[in-house]
Amino acid sequence: MQFLLPGRIGRWLAVAAGLLGAMPAAAQVYKNPKAPVEERVSTLLADMTLAEKLDYIGGYKYFSVRGIERLGLPEILLSDGPVGLRGEGKSTAYPASVLTAASWDTAAAHALGRALGQDARARGVHVLLGPGVNISRAPMNGRNFEYLGEDPYLAGQLAVSYIKGVQGQGVVATVKHFAGNNQEWDRNHVSSDIDERTLQEIYLPAFRAAVQQGHVGAVMNSYNLVNGEHATQNNHLNRDILKGQWGFDGILMSDWVATYDGVAAAKAGLDLEMPSAAFMNSATLLPALQAGTLSEGVINDKVRRILRIIFRFGFYDKPQLARTIPADNPATAAVALNLARGGIVLLKNEQHILPLAGSVKSVALIGPNAKAYAAGGGSSLVPPFHSVSLLQGLQALAPGVRVSYAAGTTPPLEELAEKAPFYTAPGLSVAGLKAEYFANQTMEGSPAATRTEVVINHVWPAAPDVAGLPADHFSARYTGVVRPAKAGLYKFAVKSDDGTRLFVDDKLVIDNWHDQGPTLRSVALPLEAGQEHAVKLEYYENGGGAQVTLACYVEMLDFSEATRAAAAAQVAVVAVGFDNTSEGEGSDRTFALPEHQAALISAVARANPNTVVVLNAGGNVDMATWLPAVKGLVHAWYPGQEGGTALAEILLGKVNPSGKLPASFERQWADNPTFSNYYDADGDKRVAYKEGLAVGYRYFDQSPVKPLFPFGFGLSYTTFGYSNLKVQRTGKGAATVSFTLTNTGPADGAEVAQVYVHQASSPVPRPVKELKGFAKVFLKKGESRTVTVPLDAAAFSYFKTDKNAFGYDPGTFDILVGSSSALVKLKASVQIQ
Ligand code: BGC
Repeated sequence: MQFLLPGRIGRWLAVAAGLLGAMPAAAQVYKNPKAPVEERVSTLLADMTLAEKLDYIGGYKYFSVRGIERLGLPEILLSDGPVGLRGEGKSTAYPASVLTAASWDTAAAHALGRALGQDARARGVHVLLGPGVNISRAPMNGRNFEYLGEDPYLAGQLAVSYIKGVQGQGVVATVKHFAGNNQEWDRNHVSSDIDERTLQEIYLPAFRAAVQQGHVGAVMNSYNLVNGEHATQNNHLNRDILKGQWGFDGILMSDWVATYDGVAAAKAGLDLEMPSAAFMNSATLLPALQAGTLSEGVINDKVRRILRIIFRFGFYDKPQLARTIPADNPATAAVALNLARGGIVLLKNEQHILPLAGSVKSVALIGPNAKAYAAGGGSSLVPPFHSVSLLQGLQALAPGVRVSYAAGTTPPLEELAEKAPFYTAPGLSVAGLKAEYFANQTMEGSPAATRTEVVINHVWPAAPDVAGLPADHFSARYTGVVRPAKAGLYKFAVKSDDGTRLFVDDKLVIDNWHDQGPTLRSVALPLEAGQEHAVKLEYYENGGGAQVTLACYVEMLDFSEATRAAAAAQVAVVAVGFDNTSEGEGSDRTFALPEHQAALISAVARANPNTVVVLNAGGNVDMATWLPAVKGLVHAWYPGQEGGTALAEILLGKVNPSGKLPASFERQWADNPTFSNYYDADGDKRVAYKEGLAVGYRYFDQSPVKPLFPFGFGLSYTTFGYSNLKVQRTGKGAATVSFTLTNTGPADGAEVAQVYVHQASSPVPRPVKELKGFAKVFLKKGESRTVTVPLDAAAFSYFKTDKNAFGYDPGTFDILVGSSSALVKLKASVQIQ
């Protein structure tokens, strides 16, 4: 028999009463749109039953907060983010966030936010799941393209503008992924181990700016752990810092399936578990409430925060759907184009190969990305209503130029999968492999379905088309033989989401057995004509999207079509880089370009010395073998649906490039400060951020190792002069920096002037200099303008661990004004008291 202590009985009775029904609020103040928000929140909360409250803090239908009809609460619709409205069909596809960062243009970031807000309203979406502000530590992070670069100040300022743009349209923005989600590799299990000062100075300031300056309505916790505790149950991050130090009063939601312990998450400040209440539900929370280890006040606070945002944004009082805004909107498409124009970066321009001179009448456009709409993969990938490839852009804008096209590389894997020399059993001529599908993740028991697969190439965004298989958590085994007609070095290539392992003659040759987004692995094996080898591919799917593709082919490294085209044209443009299958959420990418692209660039450059490379990537790539051989390099990031137009305009000189790198580009991966500690080498699932504050330019500034292209660098078709620096103290801990910027070159254009601060002598080690202000200024040929950049106490402060707060030490500070982090043009000092 169970025995309840009197105190417990009392608490239990209170809980039971709450479950049965709450007292109706006297006058249902919450229905009055004119009543103060906090009063509406309190009165509605008082009208909710405990059961309703417990249901309310778990997501609904994957992308909603449930409506409660009896209380007049509408269903709240959430949607990705950050580069377009995903999940509601086609939508305007904006450039990747890293391009926004490369624009260094707060007005363009605001326009982007505003456009996203309009797209959301056109679809009745209440909450946009963006911006993403995780700091770029290393180029391989699969989601760098969704973020705003390596510098906390730059990322913060752009995020604030973006958020104000979104929220100005009556749509809640969500800053993500809080925090320390700086790699995709094993993201659900790895702990980012970051000391407090580094956390506060590098990884959190953009979130803090989003909260305190942008007044963001929602924050999303990340998948990873921080200092040993999952973000969704990290008391220090969520309660001490976000809700305590920063005073955040909005909704803290989890990333999708990033909650691991309902009670721990509830106690540590998580307000809303997405996409559903798998852990933070009544089954786990009620016993804790009954036992008194969790108070109803904690639950009330979560509900209160969700209601606060609903009332603050007017969701309770009016429909979110704005029927007057078109879904396919020329106005937001124009925003996408304008942003792309300002964020594409010209990195190399030897002998002024760009812009292409009027005398250029033939261009060979080569490479896998020339004809494609390239974007990063994962939850931010948006299907646009239309898109412009570089080929289309050039053809439209240069009608007098003959543009020839050559793909240049081997066909895509999906095409190669159709030609694999697989047979279902030794000696048989039935093409394909025998497939056994299991309704569990571990190939246990008898298969739910068995069939012959002529081609192994399945992409299943939802449930697989195999009878008896669930949408998630299934596995498969494919068996048979490989019997090539010709001898050769055969490449076995497997792409999977999630895990695969391949055996040839019972030997494990590819082991990629873990959760991930679509990831390609390959191995080359010599095979004889007509000889048979047993083949076995094992595959499992855990959650989300599913893909399994297997190909076996002899590689044809024949660039002759490409080099012929290059040799026959005055200029060759090679469009290479990643796309949504090779860079995206769920896994890290390689530092090297996708296979054979580096060799393709070198082959083209040998055929035509006037070669320009156009690159798609979320950051830096290995350029060592080909950069010296090409005359031009344009970093296009992922330029969005209008990218081909913006690129063509830049190549042709109709637009003067003005983007600058938001991250340092290392010469080789070994030069990156995280080289020895980016991956969890000993497999203990802990990544120590040993470089501390020395991320990006903060490292290169203090090291004899120098980057290939520094943070803040980007070329223009004109030149700019800097003069007349003045720094004036404007009060305690504040100063104003002003200088003259002149367009001294042959074209109109925009310059990004950067203001860095250095403390002459500090009691604690500080970075050599830190970005504390910037201005993007458009100047006509010959025009001059005075640029003014205000600096407040934050510009001189660092995180004082002993005081657990930011502060500065009065003294002399150097103000460095430059056109990049490595090119300081003006310098002055100021005494800050
Ligand atoms: C991503 C989030 C995204 C969510 C919903 C997750 O996989 O990490 O950024 O908002 O899915 O699509």
